[in-house]
Amino acid sequence: MQVRVEDVTYIAGGREILRQASLIAPEGQITAIMGMSGMGKSTILKCIGGLIKPARGRIFIGETDIVPLTERQLHPVRADLGMVFQYAALFDSMTVYENIAFGARRQNPQLSRPEVDRIVAEKLEWVGLEGTQNRMPSELSGGMQKRVGLARALATEPQVLLYDEPTSGLDPIMAHIIDDLIVEMKERLQVTSLVVSHNLESIWRTADRVAMIHEGRIIAEGAPAELQASSDPAVQQFIEGRAEGPIAPGR
Ligand SMILES: Nc1ncnc2c1ncn2[C@@H]1O[C@H](COP(=O)(O)OP(=O)(O)O)[C@@H](O)[C@H]1O
Ligand SMILES: [Mg+2]
Repeated sequence: MQVRVEDVTYIAGGREILRQASLIAPEGQITAIMGMSGMGKSTILKCIGGLIKPARGRIFIGETDIVPLTERQLHPVRADLGMVFQYAALFDSMTVYENIAFGARRQNPQLSRPEVDRIVAEKLEWVGLEGTQNRMPSELSGGMQKRVGLARALATEPQVLLYDEPTSGLDPIMAHIIDDLIVEMKERLQVTSLVVSHNLESIWRTADRVAMIHEGRIIAEGAPAELQASSDPAVQQFIEGRAEGPIAPGR
């Protein structure tokens, strides 16, 4: 399932946060959206996930433009989308099992207990956390919590996975594990992945395609090597780390 963003403008607080942003995330590939803090990365991902609505433009998830859809019409589209977002934290009062089962049941309330058991066990195995069903999120490390979040997103068997800063706040070893999982999920499920990141190392390690966002516009898009060869000064500044202002980790 391809994702296509066309001329999307998003307005908040009286200003244009996204300004006619356009990008294509080809089916079955990993597209990274990179850029400095505050440039609109999370905003464009939330628009793609149908969590917020742009003022103008079109966002195709497969064949469907989701921009004009009502909440009810969005429901079947959401089933195709898995979101691993910074703020989509786990439910603290639920076990790992219940967190993942919640995702599965929301998608299909008819599931029997053995079916849910199978889904939970399978997704935990995929993210390398077999046997943690009965643990509470607070008992897990930050990296493990992120992996449970991914398992929960996978529980609906989505065709598109959206990740917002999946490695932020993690040590380099755990970040590497998450990067590998993102690639593994692509290969295992042929899922279309969009990964928002300002972590260049992760981007070069995982992305098939890269889109650079700057002040709410997509200013460059292509294969990693094309972006690296770009003569655009903002792209070069970002890649060479000579950006004005700090590119703070974890933001
Ligand atoms: N609902 C909102 N109201 C006002 N400003 C917003 C809102 N959402 C985002 N912004 C602003 O839009 C800009 C881009 O935000 P965001 O997409 O979160 O950036 P990034 O994820 O690239 O760091 C920031 O300056 C942010 O403060
Ligand atoms: Mg963000």
